Formats: sequence, C-alpha cells, structure tokens
Amino acid sequence: MEQMMRKCMVKKGYSVGATLLLMWGMSSVSLMGCVKDTDEELREEVQRLGVRALEPAPDTHSDAKVELGRLLFFDKELSGNRDISCGTCHHPRFAMGDGRALSVGVGGSDGVGPERKMGVEREYVPRNSPGLFNLNDSAWRVQFWDGRVEQYQSGELKSPAVGSLLDGLESVVAAQAMFPVTSRDEMRGERGDLDIHGEPNEIADAFDSDHLSIWGKITTRVMSHEEYRERFLEVYDEEDPNTINFTHIANAIGAFEEQKLALANSPWDRFLKGEDDALSEDAKRGARLFYGEAGCSTCHSGPLMTNQRYYNLAVPQFGPGKGANKPLDLGRSSISMDPADSYKFRVPSLRHVSYTAPYMHNGAYSTLRDAIRHHAYPASMLLAYDGSLIEDVVLQKSFQSREDVNEQMLSSLGKELSVVPQLSDAQVSELESFLVSCGDPAVESLEVLVPEVVPSGLSVDR
Ligand code: HEC
Ligand code: HEC
Repeated sequence: MEQMMRKCMVKKGYSVGATLLLMWGMSSVSLMGCVKDTDEELREEVQRLGVRALEPAPDTHSDAKVELGRLLFFDKELSGNRDISCGTCHHPRFAMGDGRALSVGVGGSDGVGPERKMGVEREYVPRNSPGLFNLNDSAWRVQFWDGRVEQYQSGELKSPAVGSLLDGLESVVAAQAMFPVTSRDEMRGERGDLDIHGEPNEIADAFDSDHLSIWGKITTRVMSHEEYRERFLEVYDEEDPNTINFTHIANAIGAFEEQKLALANSPWDRFLKGEDDALSEDAKRGARLFYGEAGCSTCHSGPLMTNQRYYNLAVPQFGPGKGANKPLDLGRSSISMDPADSYKFRVPSLRHVSYTAPYMHNGAYSTLRDAIRHHAYPASMLLAYDGSLIEDVVLQKSFQSREDVNEQMLSSLGKELSVVPQLSDAQVSELESFLVSCGDPAVESLEVLVPEVVPSGLSVDR
C-alpha cells in the first residue's frame, strides 16, 4: 500500500517529502489517483513483458513499388489456370483471409469467401488462410502454420526451395510470396490443366521441386504485358526487362503487404500509448488475465501476440491433410522431420483476431469463445467436437474422430498448455473482450485496396 501511494504521488509530480506532510489530508485524492494508476500498472506490466504498441509502416517502399505489388496481388495471371490470385484467398472483404475453414484453390468457381465453390476433382487447401496484418513488424521471423519459411537471426532465409531461393529477397514476407505460386492446389494447377481461355497451363508442367522453372515461367507471363514491363523497369530502375525475375515480383508483393496492412490503431494499441479510456473495464480484466493468471502470454507474447514457436493443442483434424501422413496433418513435424513435433502448429498472432474467424490452423472453431475454451479444456473439446457442424459435407466426411488419432494427439499435448487454468464463462468472455480490443476497426474498410483493373486484363475478385 505504502509503495502504491508513493508511486501515485510521484507520478502526479509531488515530491515524496512534501507528500508525507500532505498525505493524511489528501488520502481520498491520492486513492483516486491510484485507481487510475492501475491502468498505468497494467501498461508497465505488459511493457515489462515485451509488449509494445504496433506502429504504422514507415515509408520503406516507394509508392510505385507498393502499387505494383497491389496489382500483382490481385492479378490472376500469376496462377497456372489464370483463375485465382493471392487476393482470392486473402480478400479485404474477409479481413485478408477468406472467412472459411479451408481455402478453395485452383479450379474453384468465381466468387470469394464462402461463395467460392470447389472445382471437380480438386482438393481443399489443407489449412486456414490467415489475415496478413502487420507483416511490416520487425518481430516477424516465421511464416506459415508450420513455419516452412523462416528467417534466422543471422538474416539467412530457410524455405522449402532448398538451394534455389533466389538472391535479393528483401524480407521473410517477400520470401513467403515465392511459394503460393508453386503450390499445385493453391495457384499452380495440375499437369494437363487448361487455363480459363482453354490454353495449356505451361506452369503446371514443371516438376514440383523445380522452383526456378516455375518462377521463370510466371515471370515470362507477367513481363509479356507492356504495363508490367514499364512498371517493373521504373520501380527497379532497370533498362533491360531480362533483369527482372521472380524475386522482383515477390519483393513488390511483400512491399504491398507490409505497407498497406500495417494497422496500428486498435483500442489496445491506443491504451498502450497512454489512452486509458480506449479499453472497456471488461477488456482490461481480460488483459490482466491474458498477461497473468490465464497464462496466454506464455505463447501469445510480444507485440504480435505470438512467440512464433510450435505447440500441439490437439485441435480436431479434418480436411485433405498434408504431407506423408495424409489425411492427417502433422504440422511442424513434416518440416522439422522430428516426430516429437507431430501435431504442432505455429502460435498465431492474435492481432485483429476477432475479424478472422474461423480459428485454428484448419478453422475448426467458428467462434473466439470456443477457440479460447479449447485451450482450457483441450481433451473434452476434442472428444466432444461435432464434425457435422463443419461448414461443408466433404469436410464433415473427412473429420478424423478415430480413437487412436485422439489418443496420439492428447498423449503428446503441449505441456506448456498446462499454464492455462480452468476458465469460467465470465473469464472466457473477458478474454474475448480483450482480444476484440486488439483489432483495428480499419480492417473493415480495406476494400479500397481491390484494384478496378489489373494489367493482364483478367477479372478481379470483388
Ligand atoms: C488458395 C488460397 C490461397 C492463395 C491463392 C494464396 N494464399 Fe496465402 N495462404 C493461404 C493459406 C491456406 C495459408 C496458410 C498455409 C499454411 O500455413 O500452410 C496462407 C499463408 C499465407 C501467408 C503466411 C501468413 C502467416 O501468418 O504465416 C502469407 C504472407 C500469404 N499466404 C500471402 C499470400 C500471397 C502473397 C499470395 C499470392 C502470391 C497468396 N498468399 C496466395 C491461402 C492462399
Ligand atoms: C502453449 C502455448 C499456448 C498458450 C498458453 C495459449 N495459446 Fe492460444 N494458440 C496456441 C497455438 C499453437 C494455437 C494454434 C493451434 C492450432 O491451430 O493447432 C493457438 C490458437 C489460438 C487462437 C486462435 C487464433 C487463430 O487465428 O486461429 C486464439 C483465439 C487463442 N489461441 C487464444 C489464446 C488465449 C486467450 C490463451 C490464454 C487462455 C491462449 N491462447 C493460450 C498456443 C497457445
């Protein structure tokens, strides 16, 4: 108590000596000060834990480069069958995701989000499409749910393109942009596919491991359009179109993502910058739980609310699966080749999370509450999971309710998860309020980012 009083007074600018004399007479005033100061204490506590407000992106990239990246992001010319762009699965109308459990890639019908229907004999993309926010933040090192693209402290990039990642990538975000185009189910298509004009899909012919050939063919396509040729030469200050390769494409897309999606005006950011009233009392209680008793910040730490490590939470499995163990998705272990990493996925950022339902690596939960509750009661949530509620019949049928799978997941459950206590409904609701406050309402007005037309002249998803 004494310490608290002292802190309140000192903060208010009184000298400690003078306050001792004034203290008795002023106790009601200083106590009021203390009630307010509990906000200050919350701020100090989380700052001590390495949390800071996010910042809007500095003007690292030229406007011309960001604009080029925007056009490429929404241009279906980058996909084998010319039927899908990055923006199809990362759409401003769906908080830069697609609002569905698993994404529909190549061969899907027109439309975005839940409207987009699966093509004949195609498979779902095995994972949930993340929002792409605050990728400008220097804290980012790991991309994808299984961390298959990573930048080490030394600056060295690790990726699935062993030995052939081209030089000159500007960030881990740019490095990530090299890969959606190489994935058959996301953007590239299957051998023998025809594009939307009935022409052969030359990009699907390349061997899966021949990244250089895939990137080369897409670059040739992009550079066949005069508008792109001019824009690339201007942005990169080059004279010869042959100097442009896929790293230039990826750097421009990365510049767009970093610059235009750096939303830093959430109530939580405003609170961190000193605006006490930015958060409701409920959200403040939620924040205290999150950074205290509920243990959330053990994993959802730092400014991005992720330590970018991997844990097995025994999230119900469904979908086509990924890697050698299909229809299961073993997550991180398919990358690290360590069986101890089975069912582990990267801790997701919780920034803007209230806008990006459904949740988890496969969209298993449609509400924030269930996603939170799963942490406190993983076994009962897994065993009680109702596969018939998954959004689509194909996915419902793929739900893995086998006992041995449940057992495998539960027996290797991340022991770090035991920091999360049993949470009451009221606590879940406070945590939810806090997470809602970590989102910037500007998420809802990103549709201006969708270009009217793109240089290839292909249709743009709205
Ligand atoms: C078919 C839908 C689809 C398309 C098209 C697509 N993505 Fe994604 N994107 C996803 C899914 C699903 C994931 C998660 C995959 C995983 O982690 O295994 C993802 C992950 C990402 C991530 C990682 C985010 C994080 O938090 O780790 C970034 C960045 C990204 N995509 C950008 C792009 C860009 C740039 C393009 C175009 C070149 C693109 N995506 C095309 C569905 C798509
Ligand atoms: C042991 C580490 C760990 C702890 C502790 C933890 N989480 Fe998580 N959290 C994860 C991982 C890993 C995932 C993704 C799991 C998956 O998809 O398989 C996740 C997913 C989430 C999601 C879904 C986000 C999305 O975009 O899909 C929310 C919401 C969430 N956590 C909130 C919380 C809250 C609230 C707490 C505290 C009660 C908490 N977490 C504690 C590791 C943790």
